[in-house]
Amino acid sequence: MTRTVYLNGEYLPEHEAKVSIFDRGFLMADGVYEVTSVIDGKLIDFDGHAVRLERSLRELDMAQPISKEDLLAAHRELVRLNEIDEGGVYLQITRGAPADRDFAYPPADTPATVVMFTQSKPGLSANTAAAKGIKVISIEDLRWGRRDIKTVQLLYPSMGKMAAKAAGCDDAWMVEDGAVTEGTSNNAYIVKGNTIITRQLSNDILHGITRAAVLRFAKEAQMKVEERPFSIAEAQEADEAFVTSATTFVMPVVEIDGAQIGDGKQGAVAARLREIYLDESRKAAI
Ligand code: PDD
Repeated sequence: MTRTVYLNGEYLPEHEAKVSIFDRGFLMADGVYEVTSVIDGKLIDFDGHAVRLERSLRELDMAQPISKEDLLAAHRELVRLNEIDEGGVYLQITRGAPADRDFAYPPADTPATVVMFTQSKPGLSANTAAAKGIKVISIEDLRWGRRDIKTVQLLYPSMGKMAAKAAGCDDAWMVEDGAVTEGTSNNAYIVKGNTIITRQLSNDILHGITRAAVLRFAKEAQMKVEERPFSIAEAQEADEAFVTSATTFVMPVVEIDGAQIGDGKQGAVAARLREIYLDESRKAAI
């Protein structure tokens, strides 16, 4: 089945969707994105992603080119057309394609480029990968200072994933001034006893939509949450570690820079949070 994608209001076979070589996303990484997961053919936390998208656009002085209602309708239509049961919808909005390359922003009436496509990932919500957990390495965080804006500048996170792969691991946790900021495409947590520790929100990290939901569920389940920086050494001594994102939900981390975390298996807190997150997300999916 040929994938149907969305480009500026049109639904097209993927090979027919074309974007200009002058697009600011292509030339300048001048664009923002969101990834919304799909379970049972429904969108998880669409509202949270739509609100963060609006904020990212605002922070970059970009106009909102599509209403929230139309965005939701397009997400649903793509899920329907591509028969997605489990997977996600990728959305990207760039500052459009001016007539030529220029560092200055193009005139405000330059139409944005709006792209959406689905990714089918059968078995996404199953516990198979989570039961095994992931191994991470640490790398220095060399990204720019506005990581709260979900831009398409993903070269450094890509390099981090490649460094992890070269080391026989799955991902990298980035470290700045001795403290973990986040994973290359997820938020990072450790667990000490009944306390979940994760870095506080600031411009240093992406304000994860999954993070917000998981911390809310943790508090509802009477777990303690401490939002503060932690080091790799502290993480290596923790009872558990895990990451959260729209594509991995709650994923245990079982090794950090070669040191086994806890007993090297999925921890009880991470397992419980994953279960609650998936249950509640399924109920609230639209
Ligand atoms: N990444 N931190 C970073 C740097 C991320 O790229 C992401 C998401 C997260 C988690 O945010 P959320 O819970 O809203 O997915 C944290 C997406 C999934 C991606 O780039 O594919």
